[in-house]
Amino acid sequence: MATFRTPELDRPDHADLDPRLQIETLRDSDRSDRLAAQAADRNEILNGLAQPQKTLPAKYFYDQHGSELFEAICGQPEYYPTRTEAGILERYAGEIANATGPCELVELGSGSSTKTRALLDAYRDLGEPLCYTPIDVSRTILTDSARQLLRDYPTLHVRGAIATYEQALAELGASRDAIDLPSRMLIFLGSSLGNFTPEECDRFFMQVRDFLSTGEYFLLGVDLHKSTAQLEAAYNDADGVTARFNLNVLDHLNSRFATNFDRDNFEHWAFYNEHDRQIEMHLRCLKTHDVHLGDRRFSFTQGETIRTEISRKFDVGTLQTQLDHYSLEPVNVWQDPQGWFTSILTRRIAR
Ligand code: AVJ
Repeated sequence: MATFRTPELDRPDHADLDPRLQIETLRDSDRSDRLAAQAADRNEILNGLAQPQKTLPAKYFYDQHGSELFEAICGQPEYYPTRTEAGILERYAGEIANATGPCELVELGSGSSTKTRALLDAYRDLGEPLCYTPIDVSRTILTDSARQLLRDYPTLHVRGAIATYEQALAELGASRDAIDLPSRMLIFLGSSLGNFTPEECDRFFMQVRDFLSTGEYFLLGVDLHKSTAQLEAAYNDADGVTARFNLNVLDHLNSRFATNFDRDNFEHWAFYNEHDRQIEMHLRCLKTHDVHLGDRRFSFTQGETIRTEISRKFDVGTLQTQLDHYSLEPVNVWQDPQGWFTSILTRRIAR
């Protein structure tokens, strides 16, 4: 029987052929892990849908199509966070690099690594060795952006990990790259912190503290509290990209868990909850109907909503106090001229 093979496809890990690139998989590494993870994910969804206020975890936005829609959101005129943070990093990356000295950059949720380039440029311009550890759940986006970076930075070494935040913080903590830089900086950009409830935020900071050794750095980018009008515009762009991003979660669940959501039965709704200082994204049900997940059935009443995301908006002083509480001492803070977004650099201290 004829086979159609190419040498490249025979080597799924031909990434290993480039000595400057290593990619490690921390999740779904064997079948039993995968089944256990699928069962846990399914339970999480069942629990969320059984609450009086139905909720879904925000991570289900990011299938292939959802990740593309998110990249498109970042380019919308109303969605100021991405370009504002990029501006801060472009302007102050030199100060950041000066403050930390040579270090390995470890980025949680690296995605396309676009904003990280400003940092790589700054460390390169200071003549420091470049070692980057991007962490993302999407193999495609991780591999593609790593290859692009290697082309653009001839001295760069990339050691990526396909992993969730939790897995990466738990498993990469003690590891050191072959290049053995004197320090590390953990990077968490884009205000992804905003997706965490205050309790999840505390847990996350504990994990960050435990991940870092004394003297190592944590660079955090967060969106700041501001006018309701500006915030609501950012999550209700005129082209409806955010609406499609929100509704896409239903298609993703259908393909992954064999639910029978019909996206035509829902509409996008996003508003700023001023009391809790968080954008809330919901899907509002347009007509009463049932949705199945295996043998479980959930009834949806016209007008009720599923909360699909919170995106908290922060205050610099409060956040710095909280970081300090988790042994992350302030080094410096940078903002854009309008004070919309902030980059906070902290250092792990001994206590
Ligand atoms: C990636 C979580 C930072 O909350 O602004 C964008 C996701 N949701 N538009 C955000 C998002 C709707 C984004 N984060």
